[in-house]
Amino acid sequence: MILITGSNGQLGTDLKKILKNKNIEFIGTDHKELDITKIDDIRRFVQNKNIDVIINCAAYNNVDKAEEEKELCYKLNAYVPRDLALIAKEISADFITYSTDFVFNGEKKSPYIEKDLVDPLSIYSKSKSEGEKLVLESYDRSFIIRTSWVFGMGNNNFNKQVINWSKDRDTLGIVDDQVSSPTYSYDLALYSLKLLKTKKYGLYHLSNDGIASKYDQAKYVLESIGWKGILKRAKSSDFILPAKRAEYTKLDSSKLEKVINEKLPSWKSGIDRFLQEMKEKGEL
Ligand SMILES: NC(=O)c1ccc[n+]([C@@H]2O[C@H](COP(=O)([O-])OP(=O)(O)OC[C@H]3O[C@@H](n4cnc5c(N)ncnc54)[C@H](OP(=O)(O)O)[C@@H]3O)[C@@H](O)[C@H]2O)c1
Repeated sequence: MILITGSNGQLGTDLKKILKNKNIEFIGTDHKELDITKIDDIRRFVQNKNIDVIINCAAYNNVDKAEEEKELCYKLNAYVPRDLALIAKEISADFITYSTDFVFNGEKKSPYIEKDLVDPLSIYSKSKSEGEKLVLESYDRSFIIRTSWVFGMGNNNFNKQVINWSKDRDTLGIVDDQVSSPTYSYDLALYSLKLLKTKKYGLYHLSNDGIASKYDQAKYVLESIGWKGILKRAKSSDFILPAKRAEYTKLDSSKLEKVINEKLPSWKSGIDRFLQEMKEKGEL
């Protein structure tokens, strides 16, 4: 039995969909049903349910607000993942939790591998980096999966924002100096499950293949939906935001690809499938 926490977000929504299609037993919980900050409730919840995997999809993801909500952000992204890892250990379950490309400072200019040194620039990324360390120290049957720029049906994201902006604007300016890789939450879910099967625990990068700036991503989405407006290049310095962003944080996923013996799909293929899903649900 797989327990998913934070299961109504982007990743959780797709994990549930895949597990349901594969007839794999799971319990999907979200904030109201199981608040991950209430560790005693979780410890009680996992009793007598035959849980052999815990997948933590809950997180504090508001990168800018984190600058003023440091305590909550560290709780959700660092201390709770450690406590969940310890609970997994108590019941001998495998544990998966997620981190971010933002743990890097962006100075490398070629795809980051797992062995590269972290240098997080914001409270959010520092909390995620701390969470990685605490989980890996706490339980040797843990997977930490770093991913980037996640989009899916389960929550708001950059693709949906761009589509919304395009509805009432004829000119858009999107930054071209933040570079990584958009990642479809369905692919993040599917390849996490493939990795889980290998039992080769540890730290992995998992993002869709290819490299893109925010501008490239917006351009691809807008062209795909046939927007007729003008897309302009902008710079991060044009927008004053509380949290500092790195310029280049592309993750190299080849360690994971080698372990599962499969190549990850491109971010463009992810966006194609996402837009198709939006159409099917009448959201486009
Ligand atoms: N989104 C990205 O671009 C991105 C990039 C890099 C890494 N990641 C990481 O990838 C993982 C999955 O991200 P995602 O995009 O699927 O996240 P998401 O859509 O924001 O979902 C997170 C879920 O966590 C839930 N949650 C928050 N606090 C909770 C609590 N105390 N107890 C239980 N549930 C709680 C939220 O529910 P409520 O909304 O009801 O609070 C939400 O459903 C996360 O670890 C994230 O940090 C994401």
